[in-house]
Amino acid sequence: MFLHGTSKIDASGELVIGGCSTVSLVEQFGTPLIVYDEELIVERIHAYHKAFEKAQMTYHLAYASKAFSSLAMCQLAMEQGLWLDVVSAGELHTALKASFDPKHVYMHGNNKTPDELRYAVQAGIAFFVVDNFHELELLSTILEEEETHADILLRVSPGVDAHTHEYITTGQQDSKFGFDLASGQVNQAVARVLELHRLRLIGLHSHIGSQIFEATGFAVAASRMADLWQHLQREYSIDLHVLNLGGGIGIRYTSEDMMPPIENTVYGVLKETEKAFLERGMTVPLLMMEPGRSLVGEAGTTLYRVGSRKDIPGVRSYLSIDGGMTDNPRLALYGARYEACIANKMLEPATDLVSVAGKACESGDMLIWDVHLAKSQPGDILAVSCTGAYNYSMASNYNRMARPAVVFVKNGQSSLVIQRETLDDLVRLDVVGSNRHVVHSFS
Ligand code: LLP
Repeated sequence: MFLHGTSKIDASGELVIGGCSTVSLVEQFGTPLIVYDEELIVERIHAYHKAFEKAQMTYHLAYASKAFSSLAMCQLAMEQGLWLDVVSAGELHTALKASFDPKHVYMHGNNKTPDELRYAVQAGIAFFVVDNFHELELLSTILEEEETHADILLRVSPGVDAHTHEYITTGQQDSKFGFDLASGQVNQAVARVLELHRLRLIGLHSHIGSQIFEATGFAVAASRMADLWQHLQREYSIDLHVLNLGGGIGIRYTSEDMMPPIENTVYGVLKETEKAFLERGMTVPLLMMEPGRSLVGEAGTTLYRVGSRKDIPGVRSYLSIDGGMTDNPRLALYGARYEACIANKMLEPATDLVSVAGKACESGDMLIWDVHLAKSQPGDILAVSCTGAYNYSMASNYNRMARPAVVFVKNGQSSLVIQRETLDDLVRLDVVGSNRHVVHSFS
């Protein structure tokens, strides 16, 4: 298995992350356990900051909290000078509970509900990334009721196909997100914004997709946005000053993935964007990016206990662990590939070819097909790397499985940042007996 960040193997053959033995972590916190290497998260944030600084940009770097939203993560993002992208009342609430400055929070979403918009307006967030015509009207009405104003960016679907899994591309024309550029929806939206006096258009947003390895897609999107910017300034004489290029640098899930170095790649994207604006005789706007996966993905490792095994002669060996699609649905959803190791037997040869299965009642509940591991026994610890982005945030309670605990590790110290769900948590919202109010809808 490729070792990410501060991961090491100690003399007794145990996987160590952030100076903490994974064996001790599991003894202390149980399994499944998601372990975040805090130093690696910070290193990744610095790489982005360095790219912006090297390119001498005026910028705000945001964290797309959908990748992993928790109080501790919001606090870490805040300490590192990041802004926060939220896509729901829940993510906003998490940010506010973490005392994140609402002036550095902004909201995305293709169907923000009236309650979500109102909550965000009342919290005083920095701006809204407005996705569609319905939202323009809804937000305007809410601002009217609240007797206030809001800054907005328009989310533009720039028509760039970024060569990633079709469910995680978002910038191509046939997408549920944003105002379509090609058919002129952006112009219509701008014209409408100018009639809605509670809204102040300050910029544009484009996001071409996630897990993207090539900088070309960003460059194409940036040049389309520069064209649009010029057109809007000429046509409507509006003073736009924020361009948000979305998230999207891919990460290395397996040894075969070649992750482009963040600093150079982002620097390249920024320089291309600068060029696109300067070539058109415009000043370069304040630039924003909102990475999620590349900040937290590789920093996360999930630890499980090995349980049952089924050997089908001449076919396959299934090795089951005490979690699965309920804490990591990414193979089931996207065919995602992961690497793994037996964390307490790191010095033993990886000669056992198995497929790692989850424990949910579903044949599709697999974590890895065909992986070579050290020969394991029930009770050994399986570590799956690169589970920091879109794993906990997409976890479910299918089969009434409890969601895992999460710890941050750094310099030999571990801190529990999300408690393991308990069996009682699973029934906490259920209503029975005298608390159950029967409502008759028919008279
Ligand atoms: N900005 C916008 C508008 C987005 O839609 C996304 C991701 C990001 C930023 C962050 O992109 P990142 O830097 O993480 O690539 N559940 C899927 C990923 C969905 C991505 C959704 N949007 C997965 O597990 O791969």
